[in-house]
Amino acid sequence: MKAEDIKCVASIGGGVIGSSWTLLFAMRGLQVFQYDINDAQIEGCKKNIENNINSLIEFGAIKAEDKEEIKSRISYTTKIAEAVKDAQFIQENGPERLPIKQGILAEIEESAPADAIYASSSSGLLISDVTANAVHPERCVGGHPYNPPHLIPLVEITYCEKTSPETVKLAKEFYQSIGKEAVVLNKECPGYIANRLQLAVYREMIDLVMRGICSAEDADKALVYGPGIRWAIFGHNMIMQLGNPNGLKAMMEMLGDGGDVWLADMADWKHMPSKEYGEIAQASVDEMMKNFPDEIGHTNPEIAKYRDKMLIEILKLHKKF
Ligand SMILES: NC(=O)c1ccc[n+]([C@@H]2O[C@H](COP(=O)([O-])OP(=O)(O)OC[C@H]3O[C@@H](n4cnc5c(N)ncnc54)[C@H](O)[C@@H]3O)[C@@H](O)[C@H]2O)c1
Repeated sequence: MKAEDIKCVASIGGGVIGSSWTLLFAMRGLQVFQYDINDAQIEGCKKNIENNINSLIEFGAIKAEDKEEIKSRISYTTKIAEAVKDAQFIQENGPERLPIKQGILAEIEESAPADAIYASSSSGLLISDVTANAVHPERCVGGHPYNPPHLIPLVEITYCEKTSPETVKLAKEFYQSIGKEAVVLNKECPGYIANRLQLAVYREMIDLVMRGICSAEDADKALVYGPGIRWAIFGHNMIMQLGNPNGLKAMMEMLGDGGDVWLADMADWKHMPSKEYGEIAQASVDEMMKNFPDEIGHTNPEIAKYRDKMLIEILKLHKKF
């Protein structure tokens, strides 16, 4: 099978991530079978999809006249066999618990076509663990999106010893064919690439705030209007390349051991102070939300909508819409 032969996909679990994948698949012209465990969850999924389509229309990412056609490509079911029986690619978006993922994969394997690809949206589980009891682990990969997958281009593909190279190649080509920016991890590691990068930055932000060096609000501001706005264009290796007329190597030579003093003072703790930081930072974030201009909004749904509007503007610059 080639990526361009894939016309029918299944999305297993229709929560935040599953409903967003489903919308993306349907927007790219694929027939999608959406499974969830009961009618209430299916209704929630439909609502997510409706809201997301309406935002895409409002922000000029898709045309209003395409809405019904996109929706008509999606079928909903509470029977997993029905969802996967004709699927060539199966995106699994169930809860992030290993026994549940293993159970879902076992059910999928009972009914899916022999050559269907299974990709798990897992945020950090090892695909070797997810497929430990699989009959066809060679057809399984991790396909970790960034939320929301219908907007954020990244997908991280992970594989293990039992995965066939053909599966990895096909998964990568399939994701690329629907507009994703796919990266493949050469070795398994918990948290993959992007979440580890994000956590490294967040550890330092938390440390700066907990040591009283800056407020949570100023840490956010420093990130957004400093590195963050550049990172929306280029990764840090390219930023280093541009930092010296002679490129990255010259930049690294220029830095020499200059960063060592900072590194010696920076956070290297291995246990997340989640409770303590939650208590410190929530009040600052509440204050930030209160003081946002009305255009951004003051509640989680309003601010998330603004985030999506800005994301679409950035994605348009990246020619992703
Ligand atoms: N939320 C994020 O930011 C994010 C980002 C990337 C990846 N992920 C990963 O995506 C997956 C789904 O996360 P989510 O945030 O959409 O969670 P969610 O709780 O919003 O959705 C999970 C869905 O799975 C369904 N479900 C429950 N039991 C099931 C079963 N046995 N079989 C099939 N479906 C079942 C639930 O009804 C629900 O609709 C997780 O593995 C998560 O780690 C989440």
